[in-house]
Amino acid sequence: MSKDLAKATLQRIEALAQISEDAGRLTRTFASPAMRRANELVGSWMGEAGMSVRTDAIGNLIGHYPAATPDGKILLLGSHLDTVRDAGKFDGPLGVLVALAVVQHLHETKTRLPFAVEVVGFADEEGVRYQSTYLGSRALAGTFDSDDLKRTDAKGIAMADAIRDFGGNPDGIASAKLDPSRLLGYAEVHIEQGPVLEQKNLAVGVVTAIAGQARARINFIGEAGHAGTVPMKLRRDALCAAAEFVLAAEALAQNRGGLVATVGEIAALPGATNVIPGEARLSLDVRHPDDAAREQAMAELKQRAEEIAAARGVFMKWETAHQNHAVICERRFTTLLENAVKRHQPEAPLLASGAGHDAAALAAICPVTMLFVRCKGGISHNPAESATEADVAVAIAVLNDFLAQLAKPA
Ligand code: GLV
Ligand code: MN
Ligand code: MN
Repeated sequence: MSKDLAKATLQRIEALAQISEDAGRLTRTFASPAMRRANELVGSWMGEAGMSVRTDAIGNLIGHYPAATPDGKILLLGSHLDTVRDAGKFDGPLGVLVALAVVQHLHETKTRLPFAVEVVGFADEEGVRYQSTYLGSRALAGTFDSDDLKRTDAKGIAMADAIRDFGGNPDGIASAKLDPSRLLGYAEVHIEQGPVLEQKNLAVGVVTAIAGQARARINFIGEAGHAGTVPMKLRRDALCAAAEFVLAAEALAQNRGGLVATVGEIAALPGATNVIPGEARLSLDVRHPDDAAREQAMAELKQRAEEIAAARGVFMKWETAHQNHAVICERRFTTLLENAVKRHQPEAPLLASGAGHDAAALAAICPVTMLFVRCKGGISHNPAESATEADVAVAIAVLNDFLAQLAKPA
């Protein structure tokens, strides 16, 4: 069954990858016109798979496949439809489309389960546009922070206006919250985004935990000046302060087990060859499987930023944009998923996720589980991201078996 569905899934991944806000590369950020087109296309596939389709107040796309009886609970499946800039095709869409394939199979075989299945295409997992991640899954979990609506993107567009332009309702986000008492749980399929499965020569693996993460926006503010006339000793160069901070973050993470720290964005203002940078803006992303270790690292990095600024006579502004604690996947679901995996490959490896996933937000309201799929070279957040049709077929079969086990009386 899963071979044809895997082929169709990869064709759909190709079709979705054509929907971008940038010419010549895949970029699909929260509440963009490209996201709307992606929702329309995936929504049409959901309809063909026997689901009723809705879009909630923040822009999550949700397909509902009914239970055998009206009192059945709901199993959520899915992943995100937004992407990073110059993204690969699989991070996010794979989880939505594998879930869709499984529901399509239920529909084609006229199978109803004791629970309804809802496939969600989350509106924002990457947090590219507003730096705050999981906007979609936090809306469903009821943990969306309405202060986030005031955040502005790089063009100065407030999140509330972006949601309105998209066709959503920023004032109605509380209504997107799902009723936890109706939920059986959430299962997400995702590419591994790392090399372990490839090293083990296995198609899929079971996720045990998702690392916590924190993001900050940091500004160093010095004084712009003439590049030809201001002597080196009299400068207050904001970009040099930022450069020192980037290396301090790297050094801290290199010397501390389990810690990763990344400055992924940097801007020098006003930005001209012959002007000493008066301001530098940076992003910081810090992760550790242990929450206390991550918090400690953030505190130390803030301290370092303050020291660097003081030594250079510049100001420093630190804004924590986002924090998420580490999440453990649910034990019973993990066992069911392991059993399903072992039916399709010799062993079921257990993996921890260093990447963030919508499952981390949904863990606030229901049990969560995740299946990782091998990706070539472990490469992700890169257009070279890829997974094979054979591995996608295994993921579809495993998810289908997981649903079948869950449908059995306990
Ligand atoms: C999402 O891909 C993240 O982990 O940042
Ligand atoms: Mn990602
Ligand atoms: Mn992802």
